[in-house]
Amino acid sequence: MKLWLFALVALALVGLGLAGRFAPRLRVGPLAWAAAWAAAIWVLLEWGFVVPVPRSVVLIYLGILVLALLIYLTADRERFERAKRPAVAFLTERRFLPWLVAVALLIPALVVVDIWFAATAPPTPPAFGRTVHPAPPDQIVVHDTAVNLVTVQNPYRALERTDPEAFREHVARGRVVYYENCFFCHGDLLAGAGMFAHGLAPIPTNFQDSGNIPQLQESFLFWRIAKGGPGLPPDGGPWDSAMPAWEQFLTEEEMWDVILFLYDFTGYHPRARHETIVEE
Ligand code: HEC
Repeated sequence: MKLWLFALVALALVGLGLAGRFAPRLRVGPLAWAAAWAAAIWVLLEWGFVVPVPRSVVLIYLGILVLALLIYLTADRERFERAKRPAVAFLTERRFLPWLVAVALLIPALVVVDIWFAATAPPTPPAFGRTVHPAPPDQIVVHDTAVNLVTVQNPYRALERTDPEAFREHVARGRVVYYENCFFCHGDLLAGAGMFAHGLAPIPTNFQDSGNIPQLQESFLFWRIAKGGPGLPPDGGPWDSAMPAWEQFLTEEEMWDVILFLYDFTGYHPRARHETIVEE
């Protein structure tokens, strides 16, 4: 908010009121008074804030303001008469005819200018839409070993059936990995509301969202965790993801463990291999 502009506008309005009060010849009618208020508030909306206010918002506010002023002008019979007088005089008296013609020509002229500017504005490229789940590459290299993302499975997933105790151990290790590395962004409850989340765009993934990890295979998560934002393909742009490439800090086992933990904590299951791939 630009305080000096607010002060200036307030001073102008008060000055106008005082002038009318002490110099009767300068007294402004209610119509001029309403126009002064409309102009003052328009100036404040348009230039009174450091952040630019969208044009649509300015128009909505001015619409409400004009309505309020109309109600004010017409609510009192005597005030309405006084407000009407100059307007009626402008429209009917001969001496104003040249001005009336000028206004009648000015309105279509303004429309023409507006259309001209709208029609000749330089074209702007459409906003960039980010693909949240871009197609993964077929193969990646993690810690000098090639990982085939089409065929790779979470090596510890099978333990869920064959050795539940060992499976719980891997989940427990995944929990440690998560709360040592991931919760800052992805949140205590895995809902994407970590303490850094408000500073990030795109925001960290909400793993509780049913449209997310249950729709993905574990190999997809492994790729995203290992390669992070820097490893996104072109259609995953514009590469402003803060997701780190965890291959620099975690072992492969730790990455598979944290994946087990993500599914275990949220109660979801990874998408099975035979399910058809729905591109998002
Ligand atoms: C610095 C913040 C930050 C940290 C720490 C972080 N992430 Fe992320 N993560 C993000 C952001 C932001 C996204 C969303 C953008 C993207 O997809 O790259 C994301 C996306 C992901 C995705 C992709 C999900 C999907 O739907 O495609 C996975 C999986 C993931 N993170 C797992 C993890 C794991 C596991 C850890 C800890 C080892 C972790 N993240 C730590 C910021 C972070």
